Amino acid sequence: MYRNLVLRVDTLVKLNNGRSVNYINFDNAATTPPFKSVINEIVDFSNVYSSVHRGTGYKSIVSSRIYDEGREIVLDFVGGSRDYHTVVFLKNTTECINKLSYRLKDTLGDKVVLTTYMEHHSNFLPWKYRYKTDLIEVDNQGRLCLEDLEFKLRLYNGKVGLVAVTGASNVTGYINPIYEIASICHKYGAKILVDGAQLIPHSRFNMMPVTSPYHIDYLAFSAHKMYAPFGIGALVCPKEIFEQGYSEQIGGGTVKFVSTKDVIWLDPPEKEEAGTPNLMGVLALTTSIKTLQGLNMENIEEYERNLTKYALDQIKDIPSLILYDDMKVDEKVSIISFNMEGLDHNELAAILAGEGGIAVRNGCFCAQPYVQRLLKISDVEIEKYLRDQSLPRPGLVRISFGLYNDFNEIYLFAYLLKNISENINYYKYKYRNHPFC
Ligand code: ALA
Repeated sequence: MYRNLVLRVDTLVKLNNGRSVNYINFDNAATTPPFKSVINEIVDFSNVYSSVHRGTGYKSIVSSRIYDEGREIVLDFVGGSRDYHTVVFLKNTTECINKLSYRLKDTLGDKVVLTTYMEHHSNFLPWKYRYKTDLIEVDNQGRLCLEDLEFKLRLYNGKVGLVAVTGASNVTGYINPIYEIASICHKYGAKILVDGAQLIPHSRFNMMPVTSPYHIDYLAFSAHKMYAPFGIGALVCPKEIFEQGYSEQIGGGTVKFVSTKDVIWLDPPEKEEAGTPNLMGVLALTTSIKTLQGLNMENIEEYERNLTKYALDQIKDIPSLILYDDMKVDEKVSIISFNMEGLDHNELAAILAGEGGIAVRNGCFCAQPYVQRLLKISDVEIEKYLRDQSLPRPGLVRISFGLYNDFNEIYLFAYLLKNISENINYYKYKYRNHPFC
């Protein structure tokens, strides 16, 4: 049903034996292919594409209007308030979180930032290198421990200024109970940032009224994981946090007045977006949002859950398969990570591509502390990896579905995975000289 909405889902690729098959893209957590609606809109809009906030010509006026309306479309999509919130358009989630960590410095001062073992590096490193941080634990299956969150909030006794947590893990797909986490944070006077990169493309999201204890203070997400390429991400947050001070990136488009001695900055969000804005990126994002809204996020969520459930049912009993999953499909987005005894994650990923034309991602997915936890790698072993960079790196293999994937693709994948598990030595030998192995 959804397949037809996405461009080039029928690309032929060559297998190891020279035969051509339909490419099966199970790497949507990294980047999705574009919606046709997005590409069509970009091509159509090219007729009037022009500078934003910089011209008096007709095309510039239209371009500026489309760009500015983009903020309202984003706010409506995530349940933000047009009076209270603003949307800053940046490159991606990583840039959004970096900006927030830089711009909150004055507000947070020497307060503690709590982040979690579950985070992507982009919601860990910007905090670790700018603040005193501590990490909330995960349990044996990789679920976030809310008891540890509350324990640490109490331990720091009012000193925690922010809890930075992912909406859904890019490794296990586990969805965090962000509204419950928000109410716990607010009880202790802390604010909450949700890294929405993996959640926003799959589930309905609501910032909630700021008067509610469940409201989300800050949200960051990327368009390239929601069928909209062209390099845009959105940071949604209260306008007031940008009122004082100025951006880490300054220059064109950020000022009202400049003399050689002084500067008057523009109001937020423009003062945070130095340089010519990425209009095509915003148009791609807003077109994708309209397409997703037309489909209804609940329908998408249900369909993707069915895909995930089917995939888990198909593969869970494969001998030698190690799943990093608690099988609670209703509490995760469409991501499954696994390993196979007897094969390195690089080998398994290469075999899936070479034998089935199946694209997966393998390694640590920019979430090394989490993968170390899932693999139960001891501190002593971690030290070894730090000392010897030539050691083969641990990792997992990940499949992640988009709304255009179908049951037949999963059937083919599971069939191949079973075949690999029954012939591990054969495949190991066959792929011994593969550049990725
Ligand atoms: N964060 C993206 C992923 O998980 C790139 O693959």
